[in-house]
Amino acid sequence: MRGKFITFEGIDGAGKSTHIDWVAERLRARADTGRVVTTREPGGTPLGEDLRQLLLHRPMHLETEALLMFAARREHIAEVIEPALARGDWVISDRFTDATFAYQGGGRGLPTARLEVLETWVQGGLQPDLTLLFDVPLETASARLAGARSPDKFEAESRAFFQRTRDEYLRRAAAAPERFRVIDATRAIEEIRVTLEEIIASL
Ligand code: TMP
Repeated sequence: MRGKFITFEGIDGAGKSTHIDWVAERLRARADTGRVVTTREPGGTPLGEDLRQLLLHRPMHLETEALLMFAARREHIAEVIEPALARGDWVISDRFTDATFAYQGGGRGLPTARLEVLETWVQGGLQPDLTLLFDVPLETASARLAGARSPDKFEAESRAFFQRTRDEYLRRAAAAPERFRVIDATRAIEEIRVTLEEIIASL
């Protein structure tokens, strides 16, 4: 049986990465999940991690940025995601294509139709079975980022950029309610875990 594909999304500072290992452990504790692979985008393969360095630190044309996101994703799907799902493993990815629609589409204003062409090319019919959107207002996100390591290219973006990015995430979630669960990530970690436990129990 094919494994399930779960993605974690949210603007920088939403706190999603805190929860990934915990969800993976909860799923591993179940008898029916087999292996649970955790991975991330951009990245997840040696080439993808090299592209991540460029994407996070090198200024570039916004279409170059979108193309490199999908190039890294092509490699990630071929090398990691598809083989794992085909083996029956479950895959949890810290970000996937919704991030491109939210950041390059919403944040940077690249037309959605361009991204949809790349999505179809790179993914064919592959879509996450479940996407957890960690949602926080911008004030909460920037307070969480303040004082962290020196910001990368995206983390240094304007408030307006993150507002557009968040709005696009929420728009996508509303358009595909069967795939998305929006999590109020302003709450304490323990409270968020209660919600996550309920969601994964239904998988
Ligand atoms: P991370 O800090 O959550 O690992 O994500 C790296 C950054 O890359 C984050 O600021 C969001 C950005 N990003 C995009 O702009 N487009 C994408 O398609 C992906 C996967 C990430």
